[in-house]
Amino acid sequence: RFDRAIRPKALQDYIGQPAVREQMDIFIRAARQRQESLDHTLIFGPPGLGKTTLANILANEMGVSLRTTSGPVLEKAGDLAALMTNLEQGDVLFIDEIHRLSPHIEEILYPAMEDFQLDIVIGEGPAARSIKLDLPPFTLVGATTRAGLLTSPLRDRFGIVQRLEFYNVADLSTIVSRSAGILDMAIEPEGAEEIAKRSRGTPRIANRLLRRVRDFAEVRADGRVTAEVADQALRMLNVDEQGFDHLDRRLLLALMEKFDGGPVGIDSLAAAISEERGTIEDVLEPYLIQQGYIMRTPRGRVLTALAYRHFGLDYPGNTTAEL
Ligand code: ADE
Repeated sequence: RFDRAIRPKALQDYIGQPAVREQMDIFIRAARQRQESLDHTLIFGPPGLGKTTLANILANEMGVSLRTTSGPVLEKAGDLAALMTNLEQGDVLFIDEIHRLSPHIEEILYPAMEDFQLDIVIGEGPAARSIKLDLPPFTLVGATTRAGLLTSPLRDRFGIVQRLEFYNVADLSTIVSRSAGILDMAIEPEGAEEIAKRSRGTPRIANRLLRRVRDFAEVRADGRVTAEVADQALRMLNVDEQGFDHLDRRLLLALMEKFDGGPVGIDSLAAAISEERGTIEDVLEPYLIQQGYIMRTPRGRVLTALAYRHFGLDYPGNTTAEL
């Protein structure tokens, strides 16, 4: 697989996210000049926007190793202790889905982050002993889909907090063209843009669609990705002009047809489309809200006029309100 090749390794090759890039460039340079480890960094944002990629870049730019784990995987204190005692000075410990750490593991993290002290209890019952170990200074990089999911004591221990935003079409086009170059594909700028427009502002989706468009171009055309070929391939993949896929449309249509456009509570909506609430909140909604297709109100989710227009329908909202 070419995933590793496609992921940028230097901050300079990380496209878009200008505020994140500018800030991290400064924090990295300053830490390096002082020969310190980078401060603990929390990265949040919807899936696929490059949180893991950014963690890798931070380690690379600091010239240190990266150790990766994730919240749900860290079950026992010993798991975390093993990871942390193997760290070398300045290393990055990357914890993906950090909002899913158990409270017990979180408690171990606090002194480790603050004082580079590992406090663990070994053994059980009367034989149990508490041991303290000094850790080398390290950088904890945590990733989560929403900062609000973290407990505040954990969030407060990150000196740097970065929020990744959906990418605009121009930045996504650049990402698609760059990936196509690495994959040795023939692609026209208009072909890259067509994929970019239909990737929900998300590099992971853009790179996935690029591979599928390449398949289509090689089998159904001469291998060259033009706007026309990209459009045909994306239609075949049921990705519509706005980049909405089957699931997005199911959510929008359920809101329209089963709940009269809302407001409807998230759990009712989840039941109606047989999806997990978390998937709706983390994967589907953020882009639909950002693009103005649905709104989150105190009484629940509401469909906007834009959503009705997307399906070629008149918006019933205003008239109802006027009656
Ligand atoms: N892949 C994921 N995020 C990226 C970014 N910001 N730039 C280039 N490639 C990426």
